[in-house]
Amino acid sequence: MMSRGATRVIRSVVGPPRCFSTAAVRTIGTDSATAKISNGTAGFFPLNPGKASERAAVTWIRFPVMGARNASTVALDAKEQKEEEKVGTGSAGGVAGGTGGNDEKAIVSYWGISPGKVTKEDGTEWRWSCFRPWETYKANVEIDLKKHHVPVTFLDKVAFWTVKSLRYPTDLFFQRRYGCRAMMLETVAAVPGMVGGMLLHCKSIRRFEHSGGWIKALLEEAENERMHLMTFMEVAKPRWYERALVFAVQGVFFNAYFLGYLVSPKFAHRVTGYLEEEAIHSYTEFLKELDAGRIENVPAPAIAVDYWQLPPEATLRDVVVIVRADEAHHRDVNHFASDIHYQGHELKEAPAPLGYH
Ligand SMILES: [Fe+2]
Ligand SMILES: [Fe+2]
Repeated sequence: MMSRGATRVIRSVVGPPRCFSTAAVRTIGTDSATAKISNGTAGFFPLNPGKASERAAVTWIRFPVMGARNASTVALDAKEQKEEEKVGTGSAGGVAGGTGGNDEKAIVSYWGISPGKVTKEDGTEWRWSCFRPWETYKANVEIDLKKHHVPVTFLDKVAFWTVKSLRYPTDLFFQRRYGCRAMMLETVAAVPGMVGGMLLHCKSIRRFEHSGGWIKALLEEAENERMHLMTFMEVAKPRWYERALVFAVQGVFFNAYFLGYLVSPKFAHRVTGYLEEEAIHSYTEFLKELDAGRIENVPAPAIAVDYWQLPPEATLRDVVVIVRADEAHHRDVNHFASDIHYQGHELKEAPAPLGYH
């Protein structure tokens, strides 16, 4: 029987057991004899890594390789680990995407998913993977910003004063830091659409019925709000305590809105309608600060230029004007949704305002 010490020595020379090492995989892919064996045993090992589909299969096997290696990092010396990573990066097969530079480790996929190259109208490469050219739009900035739903019913008044009461602590916390305020408010504004869309989705599949397009409309709203956040993130960097606040507020607001929507969708949509009215007010104040020169009118973030099809020379002011127009559209959609309920109907009975920008 081999002693434990001898085993250790042998293991240190041979290395840890490699069920699927990168080197072994390559051999499998290139050596026909081995390939036959592997083909016979597993059925998915490639015979010809020159073919894209087979390259993908080669790279698939790297997941367990890396997983196994990572699990036993102690057994590897740093140099070897680095070399392994380099091999992974240099692999041509099955790269599933990635927008970074050449130094970044490529993501490999067995599944043959390749996002393909998307170009802009001018032929330059589309750099955003979170949205594509066909999802961009020009906002209607002519929308009436002053429209207001006068609260008449008890429920409307509760919704109105709930939102109004939230404004005071917000004003107190952010003062005139409108960039930061906008960014933080967008972390909240992106919640109602997602919650409403999710609940309507569940309702649709639970009751075997159509949604009238409202699931998509509300999810579109959530995505649009998230894009507002992605934009303002570029011009205002949140501090640690602001990030902590987002955690707390999201935890409370998501659950409160979820319960609110379950109990009364008409109330929930009314609350969102009033939140959007407040957002319009906030962005109007933001514009005043920009026009007064108290906030620098920096060039528009690149993500905003592409998302709202803005000219390259667009500025932060242009972005704020457009975002404010978006908020006005959300205001209309949510008050409309609440009105549908007030009139004794369900949302599915009125076609949703899809693509209403
Ligand atoms: Fe927004
Ligand atoms: Fe909004």
